[in-house]
Amino acid sequence: MPAIAVIGAQWGDEGKGKITDMLAAESDVVARYGGGDNAGHTVVVGNDTFKLHLVPSGILYPRVVCVLGGGMVVNPRRLLQEMDELAARGVDVSARRLLLSNRAHLILPYHIALDGAAERSRGQSALGTTKRGIGPAYADKAARSGIRAGEMLDPAAFAERVRAAVLTKNELLTRVYGQEPLSPEEIAAEYREYALRLRSHLADTSAFLVEALREGKQLLCEGAQGTLLDLDHGTYPYVTSSYPTVGGALIGLGLGPQHLTRILGVTKAYQTRVGAGPFPTELHDDTGDHLVEVGHEYGTTTGRRRRTGWLDAVALRYAVQVNGLSELALTKLDVLTGLNPLRIAVAYMCDGETWDHFPADVRALARCQPVYEELPGWEEDISGARTFEELPQEARDYVTRIEELAGVPATLISVGPEREQTIHRP
Ligand code: GDP
Ligand code: IMO
Ligand code: MG
Repeated sequence: MPAIAVIGAQWGDEGKGKITDMLAAESDVVARYGGGDNAGHTVVVGNDTFKLHLVPSGILYPRVVCVLGGGMVVNPRRLLQEMDELAARGVDVSARRLLLSNRAHLILPYHIALDGAAERSRGQSALGTTKRGIGPAYADKAARSGIRAGEMLDPAAFAERVRAAVLTKNELLTRVYGQEPLSPEEIAAEYREYALRLRSHLADTSAFLVEALREGKQLLCEGAQGTLLDLDHGTYPYVTSSYPTVGGALIGLGLGPQHLTRILGVTKAYQTRVGAGPFPTELHDDTGDHLVEVGHEYGTTTGRRRRTGWLDAVALRYAVQVNGLSELALTKLDVLTGLNPLRIAVAYMCDGETWDHFPADVRALARCQPVYEELPGWEEDISGARTFEELPQEARDYVTRIEELAGVPATLISVGPEREQTIHRP
């Protein structure tokens, strides 16, 4: 049976949480495939707002099983905190409903300490990470010195692995960064408690997912971050350390590509970014402030004000290219109400040439000036629209132009944070 991938087509925060939650109504399993608690996915149901960092955005449907895949890096303290918060709000987070891959890598306190220390030492060139230990945890994974979630089940061996790791990390922390050393015994004891609570959730989730698909279940693969933050395909080095692109879904969940029938790219109707790195269409004017204030563009995880700008269709075409997107979910169209004219970057000017491609070199991207196309805006409140025809002509033209530039249809159009505030197009 089919699997759908929900992929961020920009620099994250596109509204993947809302779209995943909505599509979860028709799904049996929702699986996060990468990243960690650097993600912040917002789901609004009536008067309730849920900010999810690790738990997949399908958790609010009692019949859906949620999976944290092997491509993730998981801080068990934060996972248990999130599970407790959900349980306190009446959400069932028992092992029947929430599985954690035994192959997922663990975030340990030294990863968090090193993330902060490395950012401080970068000074002016800081990446603006979320300081959740993501980069150091993935670095250990690639260096083959990471510790996986399944290893928590053998406390003696786990304590030994932690002791060996902390020995090395303390050298770095104290000698290079001038910080206090960490205690391996305290960490091992803390994680022993986490293991007791997470034991029943640990599973070979690839085997679980493939069996579910064989039984005809519908799978939703929930991306975190976005294409332009991908370690290989993003604006390196201003990226995260995982693979938010579609390949990451297959690796992170342990699935073959034949299962994927839809690859849905989520994009805002404008552009945002949180953290450092080039952003050709960034605005530092009243329009930028409008997007921040009307769009509530403050980070779900860190609370940082997001940088805002006009939609970048060069970057969007690139996201279609590297993910093979079959369609778009266009979010936050309502936020553009009242802006006139609207602009879309359709090309870049760089070193006296017109470029229609997204450059690999971040220094070249920083020199790119957007070439804008202008479209008329609209004044009407569109947050109540439920069909394409109910949108003002200018809004329809704006969506149609994005589809032309991206080369794929926008099958979902979101006009507000709630589930119902969505236009479904066949
Ligand atoms: P994610 O990381 O991709 O899941 O996105 P975030 O949750 O970090 O940020 C998206 C924000 O936009 C959240 O506060 C959502 O509730 C909100 N949102 C999603 N879709 C819409 C929409 O169509 N209109 C408006 N106004 N807000 C939206
Ligand atoms: P969701 O899933 C937006 C950004 C950080 C920083 C860079 C590296 O909510 O879309 P990291 O802590 O990952 O090493 O930081 O990546 N970043 C995100 N930006 N949304 C996210 O997740 C992000 N996750 C990481 O701001 O620029
Ligand atoms: Mg987010």
